Amino acid sequence: MLPNCCALEPERLPPAITSAVTLPVIDMSCSREEVRQAMLDAGKEFGFFQVVNHGVSEQVLRDMEVVCEEFLQLPAEDKAHLYSDDNKKLNRLFSGSTFKTGSFWMDCLRLACTFPGLEDSVNEWPEKPKRFREVFQKFVTQARGMGLEILQLLCEGLGLPIGYFEGEQTDGNVFVSTIWYPPCPNASTTLGLPPHCDRNLITMVLSGTVPGLEVFYNGDWLKVEPVRNAFVINFGIQLEVVTNGIIKSAEHRVLTNAALPRTSVVTSLMANDDYVIGPAEELLSEDNPARYRNTMFRDFMRLYNKALEESGGDVKQAIKYFKI
Ligand code: OGA
Ligand code: NI
Repeated sequence: MLPNCCALEPERLPPAITSAVTLPVIDMSCSREEVRQAMLDAGKEFGFFQVVNHGVSEQVLRDMEVVCEEFLQLPAEDKAHLYSDDNKKLNRLFSGSTFKTGSFWMDCLRLACTFPGLEDSVNEWPEKPKRFREVFQKFVTQARGMGLEILQLLCEGLGLPIGYFEGEQTDGNVFVSTIWYPPCPNASTTLGLPPHCDRNLITMVLSGTVPGLEVFYNGDWLKVEPVRNAFVINFGIQLEVVTNGIIKSAEHRVLTNAALPRTSVVTSLMANDDYVIGPAEELLSEDNPARYRNTMFRDFMRLYNKALEESGGDVKQAIKYFKI
């Protein structure tokens, strides 16, 4: 499924810089006040942090490792019917060689689910391996619960009304993307994922022990150090818009390596298609006018994709489209 070669143009090669700054790891079993403050600070500074003691059970994390590996090892004929290049399909297996903005060294199984209605979504998922549906169903339920809890903490930290992010802002699809990054023979010139910002409110990445994810911070790429049983949390453009820029949506990318395969499971909460995203009234004042325009979520996704394609994958150009 992977292309033979995904060499990048020189200006998109990973520069050889490493930063001494590290992302905060927030222990969610600390006091609510401490956790709320730490998340707000990290959201403002990095748009990224890691969480431990997050409420997703260790058993589910171990089961996910097993079924994701079993899925990868299935014979090709068991997976061929899932493969599609059509990015409008909600559930599909695809390769990083099919991106419109370049070729990347990954394979991805993206699954969609709705809440309520998870039982119906599950019927659209792969039937093999045997425990796949059961484990993914448990995982996505718990991961979504963690995401909503983090948003609630943020809501309190920002002084927004209780439950501000519940309802239309988060009741669209939940996407669970399992991404396999195989060892790459040309790791120094090949990316697993291009620099991008997520478009939705919040994304939760479970990424095992192999490094590769990097976050753009103050002109430098920060390596995300693997922490056992942690999730990497990152905020998307929707949250940057809703908070009128208080919370950052940071650019990030995934490097490849020649020795080890890497697997990540990326869970994203999406808004309802009809929801109009725009800065929260509560955060605006005469001194702090709206910095982003109001856009219906479905148009926002479409316009962002178009801007990204037209700029050849330049995230900053795509974000500018929504700034006033
Ligand atoms: C993504 C993403 C990071 C990873 O899917 O948007 O940033 O580690 N993934 O796979
Ligand atoms: Ni991302």
